Amino acid sequence: MNKLFFLCPMMFACMGGRALFAQETKLTLDLTKANKDVSPKLYGLMTEEINYSYDGGLYAELIRNRVFKNNASKPEAWSLVKNGDAKADIKLIGADPQNVPRGEGGNAINEALTTCLRLTVESSGKRAGIANEGYWGIPVRPATTYTASFYIKGTESVPPPRFNQNDQTTPAVPIIENNTAGPITVSIESNDGGTVYASGTINFEKSPFWKKYALKLTTAADVKPTKDARFVISTDRTGLYYFNLVSLFPPTYNNRLNGDRQDITKLLVDMKPTFLRFPGGNFLEGPYLGDHFPWKTTLGPLEQRPGHTGSWGYRATDGMGLLEYLGWCEDVHMEPLLAVFAGYSLRGDHIDAGPLLAPHVQDALDEIEYITGDVHTYWGAKRAADGHPAPFKLTCVEIGNEDWFDRSNTYDARFNQFRKAINAKYPSLHCISTIADAQFPKMMVTTGSKPYMVDEHYYQNAWQMEEDAGKYDSYDRKTSPKIFVGEWATREGSPTTNLNAALGDAAWMTGMERNSDIVLRSCYAPLFVNVNPRNPATGDGGGMQWSSDLIGYNALNSYGSPSYYVQKMFNTNIGNKIVPVSADGLPMLHIDTAAKGGTEPQRRMGRKEKPARPSLYYVATKDTKTGTVYLKVVNVADHAQEITIDLKGAGAVNSKGTLIELKGEKPEDTNSIDNPQKIVPVTEALTGLGKVFKRTFAPYSVSVLKIQLAAIK
Ligand code: AHR
Repeated sequence: MNKLFFLCPMMFACMGGRALFAQETKLTLDLTKANKDVSPKLYGLMTEEINYSYDGGLYAELIRNRVFKNNASKPEAWSLVKNGDAKADIKLIGADPQNVPRGEGGNAINEALTTCLRLTVESSGKRAGIANEGYWGIPVRPATTYTASFYIKGTESVPPPRFNQNDQTTPAVPIIENNTAGPITVSIESNDGGTVYASGTINFEKSPFWKKYALKLTTAADVKPTKDARFVISTDRTGLYYFNLVSLFPPTYNNRLNGDRQDITKLLVDMKPTFLRFPGGNFLEGPYLGDHFPWKTTLGPLEQRPGHTGSWGYRATDGMGLLEYLGWCEDVHMEPLLAVFAGYSLRGDHIDAGPLLAPHVQDALDEIEYITGDVHTYWGAKRAADGHPAPFKLTCVEIGNEDWFDRSNTYDARFNQFRKAINAKYPSLHCISTIADAQFPKMMVTTGSKPYMVDEHYYQNAWQMEEDAGKYDSYDRKTSPKIFVGEWATREGSPTTNLNAALGDAAWMTGMERNSDIVLRSCYAPLFVNVNPRNPATGDGGGMQWSSDLIGYNALNSYGSPSYYVQKMFNTNIGNKIVPVSADGLPMLHIDTAAKGGTEPQRRMGRKEKPARPSLYYVATKDTKTGTVYLKVVNVADHAQEITIDLKGAGAVNSKGTLIELKGEKPEDTNSIDNPQKIVPVTEALTGLGKVFKRTFAPYSVSVLKIQLAAIK
């Protein structure tokens, strides 16, 4: 296979990426040797809380900072609403739960919801209230019903503080006219309050105790979609009002309670991924010990979820908790691939294997039981009580994330402590090592049997991905463990990747697919980005922490990058057997030496490119049930290339087939939130197919040819 993949570059003088003299290029698909299986789980998804992936992304909650814990010094995303001559203010209460000032105690709902927002209305004018700006807007769509809910209480009188009676550092709560019972208005409205898109009232009961209220808000059928809106709770009466767990949900995918955004989930469903690697990535680990994904406090009612620090500079609500990840798997028909915290945190601390690590091993066993145990197990019963009696299927558990960063050299012992305990209780579960033999031979796991799979990560530019497309051709089938490419991406384009990245991705994927007897699983990362940009004037950091992502969105709309469409094309057009392909006359592209060692992204990647790489990449698979051959061809050159395709061993070939093609004029072409469909695949009918036929591939293109075999000799 691929014996001529790297033909001597000297045979082809090239300038500006174009071969000066051409030789016939021929791909021979040897259908007589299509024996190796394509991994049924080759293409999946990887996910974590980064770039506002869940909060402000997939997780459909629209209220930002709903439990007021995002920022201890200000009520982030909240503002005061005053109309007429209202006299009012808002204040964060209990922001530091360890040091609640005099007069502000007694306002926690429980140990998870310890911070709240107080609205003080001394005179109400037309109205006074609180507004939430959402994740850079609240999406308004026509004829849409939203579910709003919140906790509120109004004081009868302020009880005297029990402690620190002489502490005068904090001003006491102002004495104003007490709250009165009556309607409180809840609305979705334009940012200036001039247009009300939907509104309703709750009947507020005068009470010093917390009470949850819920209502539906419905927009009119003729409303123009917008994200320039806010959520407001307001009153026309004086008083002290305390708020917590303020929530607003639009309709969710499959109407799942506490569920996911419909548009983004639909994009994922269309990709047909087979598994979901979660919860990270760095989000699994957390910056310091104690900040790792706290799966136990992500379960049950939202009232029990305090959220946690997160790994990408903002706090996670954990609304997307363990059961929500599993529900997401159900909605998209993916198998969960669970990563468990393995005692290493991002800033370099680790927990030694042995007794200190034992609680974390137990925690992982509990987590696996929550996912897979029947209702008679402790954690299986808990899952049933949370609303999902049926266990989930789980076949692989990853131990940690990127433990090659751990310079203490403890991964071997930590991995084995987890593996031993997991396999004692769950013998059929496969444990994945995060340290790959080929990438980190000095750090890989050597004690005990070889890990079932090892996780390799690749973030590179397009040239490098193309150069590496043949990487797995040479992996030794006898000595190498199976490979999980658990994170990879061609990093060109921002916030989402461009066509050049998609070409690099496609070239790389031909290599994984051709070698999917050893590369059993793969998933691109990061999956999501909230494209709302930084605003230096206001200090708003925007939605993105990591550029070059697969799917972009704002509060209202979402779109796929060219890389997304490549993923979709590859995932949804694949057979069950690998067809060996050999190439003759494969043209090469030479690096542009005038670019002083590469373009900027190339130099940033800190790797010296080889002087030449092929300009065409390819892979073929066959579906033995239907007789369809899927031939994928990637032309990274700036010119069209004609290829002779020889189906060696084919009997009759249907002259009609299908072409799915993604192409663009320039490598920099891309999709964006304002132009989401610039680069999308187009499907067309093919004619003139046969045992041997010619096909011209467009410049900068990724093509899938679906060829129907009548019979195979
Ligand atoms: O995908 C972004 C980050 O890259 C992941 O969180 C981490 O595992 C890797 O370093």
